[in-house]
Amino acid sequence: MKIDILLGLQWGDEGKGKIVDAISPDYDIIARFQGGPNAGHSLEFNNVKHVLHLIPSGIFHKDKINIIGNGVVIDPAVFKKEIETLGLPVEELVKRLIISARANLILPGHRILDAAYEFSMGNTKIGSTLKGIGPAYTDKIARKGLRAGEILRSDFNDLYTCHLNEHLMILKNYGFKYDLSEYEAGWFEGIETLKKFRIVNTEYLINDLVAGGKKMLAEGAQGTMLDIDFGSYPYVTSSNTVSAGACTGLGISPKKVGEVFGIFKAYCTRVGSGPFPTELNDSTGDRLRDTGREYGSTTGRPRRCGWLDIPALRYAIMINGVTKLFMTKSDVMSGFTEIKVCTSYKSGNKEFNEIPFDNMKVEPVYTELPGWQEDISNIRDFEKLPLNLKKYIKFIEDQTGIPITLVSVGPDREETILRV
Ligand code: GDP
Ligand code: IMO
Ligand code: MG
Repeated sequence: MKIDILLGLQWGDEGKGKIVDAISPDYDIIARFQGGPNAGHSLEFNNVKHVLHLIPSGIFHKDKINIIGNGVVIDPAVFKKEIETLGLPVEELVKRLIISARANLILPGHRILDAAYEFSMGNTKIGSTLKGIGPAYTDKIARKGLRAGEILRSDFNDLYTCHLNEHLMILKNYGFKYDLSEYEAGWFEGIETLKKFRIVNTEYLINDLVAGGKKMLAEGAQGTMLDIDFGSYPYVTSSNTVSAGACTGLGISPKKVGEVFGIFKAYCTRVGSGPFPTELNDSTGDRLRDTGREYGSTTGRPRRCGWLDIPALRYAIMINGVTKLFMTKSDVMSGFTEIKVCTSYKSGNKEFNEIPFDNMKVEPVYTELPGWQEDISNIRDFEKLPLNLKKYIKFIEDQTGIPITLVSVGPDREETILRV
């Protein structure tokens, strides 16, 4: 039995939560492999919207196992809050959710350090979600992390104090005002919530279940263009968001990977700083933001909007080994007379397709396609989609060489068209 991966091909917020929830019935296990509470995965059913940060998007399906893998960084305070807002009893949740003992914890000091680093950078700040992601992964790589499996140790509080003292020492250099008590109480309460869950070596669990015939979907967070190695460094997150990250973040062999579902919006958005060649700082960008309700699921910040970027999509497909494309938010594009798609870049009089490693400023070269006017949110049959949307889909398939097998036409799990 193979393991499938679903991940974002752009700058995050492609609609991963919605689609993972929609396809969860096909799987037995849904597992997050990287990122942490910087993620905001929205899904909707029965007219209710849920936003998940740490918990995999299969959680609302009974009889599915949800796993927070070793590659994720967990903030216990965020975890507790999320558990309380799901609307499901804890006794039910402990059956559905299992946590890796190897997952690193985000400590109160990490959140403060994240803010202090951003504060010190002035105009060059990353635009972090300020959830402590960068400092938590920094400590992990520096071999100074505190892990979920350690919360049951009798000397846990002493371990915590050692880590805190180290963070306070670093903070002395930053002249940054903070209130530790704001985070600490909630954090320790969150530790108590975590203790109610099974914290195990999930790599054994996953491999045993898969060997026994269970199907697993690995759910990515963020997107390829925010990957620590392949994104627009330094304006990236601190983990490997690409398909390779699923192997290290869950303990699975690349040989066990089956499909790699690459999800992208019919246009582009980005939240936070960093290059965005097709960004529209005009009324078209405003229109995409308003119609698409493009405001961050985690921070509420307005998302920057722009046309689809094919060279970036091709890059993401190459790095991830995408086998199938899923396109979301096609409904948001209804009503444009013309739609632009970036098909290459130029700088001076040189035209090219590669994304420069140093984020050198590039200008998009556009191809124009005719838009469609119909409201498509009630369509469930691919063949009934407007002709010009089908042409848009065909154009993207021709440009990337990968089939688009799922089209999303609204935020609800039902507003999903599987192409047969
Ligand atoms: P994620 O981080 O990739 O899970 O995406 P987010 O949840 O942060 O952002 C996607 C937003 O678009 C959410 O508000 C979703 O409810 C919404 N959404 C997802 N798919 C569609 C779609 O096809 N059409 C529309 N209009 N909204 C969608
Ligand atoms: P989901 O999973 C969109 C962005 C931040 C910032 C940069 C670094 O919902 O798609 P970090 O807090 O990780 O240090 O921030 O990455 N970012 C996201 N943008 N969606 C996300 O997650 C993001 N997670 C982080 O805005 O630019
Ligand atoms: Mg999101």
